[in-house]
Amino acid sequence: MKILFAASEIYPLIKTGGLADVAGSLPLALRTKGHDVKLIMPAYQGILEKVAPIQKTINLGNPFGVGDLRILETHIPENDTPIWLVQCQALYEREDGPYVDKNGQDFEDNHLRFCAFSWAAAYLVSNSELTDWQADILHLNDWQTGFAAAYLESWENKSVAVVTTVHNLRYNGSFEMHKFASTQLSTELLTMQGMEFYGRFSGLKAGLVYADAITTVSPSYAQEILTPEYGDGLDGILNVLSDKLTGILNGVDYNAWNPEIDPLIRQTYSTTSLQQKTTNKRALLAENNLSTDLTKPLFGVVSRLTEQKGLDLILETLPTILAQGARFVLLGSGDKTLEQGFMALQQQFPEQVAIRIGYDEAYSHRLQAGLDVLLIPSRFEPCGLTQLYALKYGTLPLVRQTGGLADTVFEEGEKANGFHFQDATSEALQACLQRCLETYHQPAIWHQKQINAMQYDYSWDKVTDQWIELYSSLIQ
Ligand code: ADP
Ligand code: GLC
Repeated sequence: MKILFAASEIYPLIKTGGLADVAGSLPLALRTKGHDVKLIMPAYQGILEKVAPIQKTINLGNPFGVGDLRILETHIPENDTPIWLVQCQALYEREDGPYVDKNGQDFEDNHLRFCAFSWAAAYLVSNSELTDWQADILHLNDWQTGFAAAYLESWENKSVAVVTTVHNLRYNGSFEMHKFASTQLSTELLTMQGMEFYGRFSGLKAGLVYADAITTVSPSYAQEILTPEYGDGLDGILNVLSDKLTGILNGVDYNAWNPEIDPLIRQTYSTTSLQQKTTNKRALLAENNLSTDLTKPLFGVVSRLTEQKGLDLILETLPTILAQGARFVLLGSGDKTLEQGFMALQQQFPEQVAIRIGYDEAYSHRLQAGLDVLLIPSRFEPCGLTQLYALKYGTLPLVRQTGGLADTVFEEGEKANGFHFQDATSEALQACLQRCLETYHQPAIWHQKQINAMQYDYSWDKVTDQWIELYSSLIQ
């Protein structure tokens, strides 16, 4: 099958969260099974330095009046995956992140930036003579690509099947109606059964209503989003569309996340040399000038700092476990109030708490290898990848039971691999942390949980067949 995989971030080119990891690894897994997959992503500033030399340029003209859109055909050097970069200087060549400026504000023209990107993807699958490549499937990911389904709908293109994957329903890519004219889409699409969303227009809703299939990134989240609590205003339409909705759990690229071969950690280890993990713990503590007493547990977080992740609950509960000798390390950035809250905690407990505000891929690996426990108290979590990485590193995840966290972390039974709690309250988290501390002081039980954790197989290999089945069902 020929699959065009569209995403606004793709590891190792650019990453702000799990979407990039998925977009970097699912296409690879599909290629390993013999499918012909191409990626498409905007040519953000600095991206050209990270790809192979451009093999071909296709000029698509100036449909949005902001400058020519050019398709640069190349591939990702690390793994040879072909990629089309959508180049338009006025839209994508900016110093800041892919979505927000340096003050963390969404770019004012994000509707245009991602309509143009989506338009380019839709245009290429509709005009195969430009590329000598006719896609069977256009696989869209999140709101930044959802507009592509609307362009195909308005062009009445039925020759390609569209799959939309929801990685996060909270970001619905909705914009004020006065911006709609610049999208070049027909106002006929602005209905309740179309892409209109509470008086605005939404890229994600377009991706949902005009897709042939909708997936989300875990079975539990696929159920949750049908309820008002988790539906973010889209549960109504999702219930209407539920026949085409499925949940397929994300996988992990164990070439990148594996303590046996990870070049980014101090000491590699496996289930049979688990004691070596302590070398990583000691190094992580030393790197942060924290006491290297190995008898006390080390908790940590690697996360975007947003309301979603429930980290405010950690701020409330941490002092009690610090009083029992635990230490805490955080890597993350985002919400300024949370950043300040964690910095204040560090000031209050300088010998036990180390906070690093920023984004650092290598450090995130050192955390996964050196921590005893990774905390993920998310209010909602479509899949979550950090708990899957933690499991592989024998770092026990402590999670709120929601979405993909509920599908992958288990506290009870023979296969127990972590800790979980139900209510998004500091009391529930507190009680869970207490259970975790007690277990830490029962080394045999802890060790068994670590072994269980490391033996879980959440590789792409296990789920790629589900993807292939879904794609095949759409093109038959
Ligand atoms: P989300 O996509 O909601 O952010 P996931 O758990 O699916 O959550 O994926 C997060 C990804 O981003 C993981 O690869 C994690 O290691 C990475 N990550 C998050 N914050 C940082 C950071 N500050 N520095 C480095 N990597 C980070
Ligand atoms: C989103 C979700 C996260 C998921 C990731 C990759 O950002 O918040 O739970 O793991 O996408 O699908």
